[in-house]
Parts: sequence; structure tokens; C-alpha cells
Amino acid sequence: MDQPSTVQITPPDFVPERFANHIVRRLSMLEGQFHDEGAYASLLEKGDTVVYEVYELSRPEVAGELSSGISIVHSGRVGDEYFMTKGHFHKVIDTAEVYYGLKGHGVMVMETPEGEASVQDIRPGAVLYVPPRWAHRSVNTSDDGDLVTLFVYPAHAGHDYGSIETRGFRKIVVERGHGSEIVDNDRWGGANGGEDAVSGLR
Ligand code: F6R
Ligand code: ZN
Repeated sequence: MDQPSTVQITPPDFVPERFANHIVRRLSMLEGQFHDEGAYASLLEKGDTVVYEVYELSRPEVAGELSSGISIVHSGRVGDEYFMTKGHFHKVIDTAEVYYGLKGHGVMVMETPEGEASVQDIRPGAVLYVPPRWAHRSVNTSDDGDLVTLFVYPAHAGHDYGSIETRGFRKIVVERGHGSEIVDNDRWGGANGGEDAVSGLR
């Protein structure tokens, strides 16, 4: 199986006006995803803040077409856990995706259905390849700026949020006083839950 890989290239300017379809995901839509449920509840009480947004160039959902867009994960934390996307497998699981770092920094948390895990840096100019079969979630590890990426994927791929909603990813990204740290997700469990099989860390 292919492994995720990263290549640096020069970023273009971000022009959000180009993208007609604007998806906004708020804190309430990420219920059950952050490990500190108390911190989640008290942050939500203060307001249903926008966690991330997607500007999409949607295409017909048929093989041969490519959908693309801009993903913006805002800066913030729920307790010690950084703001992130819900994350998903593609419904057509053998479809890949490319991410290109435009602004800010963060990581892509990925895993296969078999429990293999990978966490890769996203920075301006970085091209991140998410191979077929790898679920993916973007995490903004910056305390003071958006994580902005461009993504491209086969338009017929579809999105499967089910298993991620139930148990999350094997690894979560937290701030423990000296920058970001990748730790095991207690909710994940399973035979490989305790092993450290993460590759590609920097
Ligand atoms: C498409 C894709 C991205 C994400 C976007 C939001 O396949 O991976 O466009 O959809 O970053 O994340 P989710 O869909 O996990 O809420
Ligand atoms: Zn995807």
C-alpha cells in the first residue's frame, strides 16, 4: 500500500470569491469528537463558534470528474485539543485526494480501516497525498491563524463519516504546554489501539 508523502511547492494567492459553494461547520456539528467533553460543553455555552469552512468547486459526482476547493480550519482549541475537521473515509474507498498547503500550519491525521495511522505536517507550499483507503482529518496546530489548504479529489468519491463519528481517529492532536503533541485517542480502542504505529511524523 502507498504511504502518504509531502513535497514543498510555491503557494498561489487564495481567492475565495472563485468558489460558489460555501460550507460552514460550527462547534455543535462536532459533538462527540473532542476528547474533553466538559471543555466542549462550556465552550459551546459561550457560542456556536465556526470551527472550519469549505469553499467548494463542485463537479458532477461521476468517475472522471475532479472536485476541488479551499478548506479553512480556524485557530482554536477545545480544552487542550486543536480545532479540526470532522474527517472521513471516502465512500468509494479506493479514491485518493491531494492537499496543498496555502497558509498557516497544522497536520493531516490519517488512518486506514485496518488501523494503520499517519500524521503529516501541512505548511504553505506542501503537497500532501492522501492515498486510496486513508481516512483524513485536518488539524490547525497554530494558536493565531487559519490553516488554509487546497484539496482535489475524484468527484464520485463521496464521504463516509460514520466510523469516525463513532470512535474518532486513532490519534488526536493536543497542546501540552510546549506545542502540539500526537497522542492516542482513548475512544478508539481495538486490538491496535495501544500500539504506536504512526509513521511520517516530523
Ligand atoms: C473532500 C475533503 C475535503 C473535506 C473538508 C472538510 O473529500 O476531504 O474537502 O471535505 O476539508 O472536512 P470534512 O468533510 O471532514 O468535514
Ligand atoms: Zn476527502
